[in-house]
Amino acid sequence: MATVLITGASSGIGRQLARDYAADGWDVLACGRDPERLEAVASDKIQPLSFDVMDVEGARRALTECPRPDMVILNAGTCEYLDVENWDGEAFDSVVATNLIGISHCLGPLLPRLQSGSTLALVDSLARLLPFTRAEAYGASKAAVHYLTQTLAVDLEPRGVRVVAISPGFVETPLTDRNTFDMPTLMPVEEASERIRQGLASRRRFIAFPRRLHWTLTLLSWLPKGLKIRICQWMKRP
Ligand SMILES: NC(=O)c1ccc[n+]([C@@H]2O[C@H](COP(=O)([O-])OP(=O)(O)OC[C@H]3O[C@@H](n4cnc5c(N)ncnc54)[C@H](OP(=O)(O)O)[C@@H]3O)[C@@H](O)[C@H]2O)c1
Repeated sequence: MATVLITGASSGIGRQLARDYAADGWDVLACGRDPERLEAVASDKIQPLSFDVMDVEGARRALTECPRPDMVILNAGTCEYLDVENWDGEAFDSVVATNLIGISHCLGPLLPRLQSGSTLALVDSLARLLPFTRAEAYGASKAAVHYLTQTLAVDLEPRGVRVVAISPGFVETPLTDRNTFDMPTLMPVEEASERIRQGLASRRRFIAFPRRLHWTLTLLSWLPKGLKIRICQWMKRP
């Protein structure tokens, strides 16, 4: 049976994906930092793999020694909203490091192991489409991940590795439980997992959901930059 490796599998979207793929008969390598949280997800089909994506050596060891995956979903991520009147450089560094540099720490050991016919999926966010208020770190990191996915597709597809960008809208997880603002089209995590697995099974290059939010943000992203910024300023009004 095929093996899927999922980072950020101890919680939220990654945990749901791990459970659903295991229920479908896949062997799952479930990654996260906290061994206890991972142990709670483990089963005969789900093998926990504990490492911090910020720790380049720990990631290298774990991802070199584990069974070779047929599919990789780099999903681990975090979000902090910033305040331009009280800039928190540590929070910025931590979000960008986890969401972007952490992916590089996983790619290093994984890329040589991905065989022709395998799939590499990176999770960004629909937030990448517009300059949302206080999303300086999160939005920038996710826009960079989307770019990275596309450049990886250019360079990996000729050797038979399929590269997929996954852009979710708001999904009910511990990450969004902290948000105090309105989250339009907030989706249960089970539905998000279903959309991702369907998209991967149908061999799509870009998986973005929910469709209405995706298209609304895409159309807004095509507006002239000045107008786009004014609309985002209008959206942040109390
Ligand atoms: N929820 C949404 O609305 C939404 C929307 C768009 C995109 N996304 C993206 O989807 C992904 C999953 O988000 P989620 O909502 O499921 O969040 P979540 O419930 O907070 O889960 C985040 C996962 O990432 C792992 N993680 C965080 N920092 C890590 C690190 N340094 N090393 C290893 N693992 C780390 C966490 O594991 P431990 O803490 O146990 O280590 C956890 O398993 C993220 O990339 C997020 O940006 C989410």
